[in-house]
Amino acid sequence: MDKTKSLHRISGIIIAIFAAAHLFNHAMAWYGIDNHREIMEALRKIYRQPVVETGLLLCFGFQVYSGIKQAMTLRKAPHLSLNDRLQMYAGLAFAFFIVQHIGAVVGQHLYFGTDTDFYFAARVVLEAPFKFYFIPYYFLGIMALGIHVAATHRKKIAGRVGEKQANFHAWIIIALAFCTAILILYVFMGGRYEIRGFLGID
Ligand code: HEM
Ligand code: HEM
Repeated sequence: MDKTKSLHRISGIIIAIFAAAHLFNHAMAWYGIDNHREIMEALRKIYRQPVVETGLLLCFGFQVYSGIKQAMTLRKAPHLSLNDRLQMYAGLAFAFFIVQHIGAVVGQHLYFGTDTDFYFAARVVLEAPFKFYFIPYYFLGIMALGIHVAATHRKKIAGRVGEKQANFHAWIIIALAFCTAILILYVFMGGRYEIRGFLGID
């Protein structure tokens, strides 16, 4: 198998594990900001260790590079199915999201020493004019990841389980991403408890 493809897959598995823990952390803000902080501090003990953080950031860097490279090759193919297009465009959209997200988070905590906690993310989805950009940005970032994974999984299993079953799997993954994005944004936008007052936003 193509070396870039298999490395993209291995690095993708590492990213998927991080993404599951990271999104679970945000979803748990449903039970309060203290709960979010507690889980984040436990996770930080792992992903903020210099060796782990460097490895993780390298995986993200490689994923973007290898993903764009594969998209450029795929684009030249004579016939692209809807699944190929979804996989390619969702991957490119995720690359756009993640480069900016990592730049913002790592830039803030490494260079400015800001604590990139719950309030760091909540502020930008509550305060105008930032919220007009960041609400769709976070929503589409999670959806892009979900659609890319769904299209990839669909492609892998269609030959074995049939088109109907593969489509069903893909829809489940997309629905999960949709519910996760809505739940996280609902909490961070103050749907569960008051945040605006605490941040000094009217
Ligand atoms: C609504 C969705 C999201 C929100 C609100 C969000 C928010 C945050 C926050 C607050 C941090 C700082 C964590 C800390 O200081 O420990 C962070 C870090 C990070 N996020 Fe997200 N995130 C979201 C989605 C994602 C997704 C889908 C990914 C992709 C897997 C992702 C990847 C990362 C990475 C790589 C870091 C840096 C971890 C480090 O410090 O090394 N995020 N995010
Ligand atoms: C960073 C942006 C990304 C881009 C631009 C991208 C792009 C692509 C493209 C175009 C393909 C299709 C290759 C082909 O069939 O010719 C692909 C395959 C794949 N992607 Fe991504 N991707 C990205 C991120 C991710 C992430 C975050 C994951 C995991 C969560 C992932 C997991 C996979 C897997 C498992 C494959 C299948 C590889 C194989 O055929 O063995 N990708 N990607």
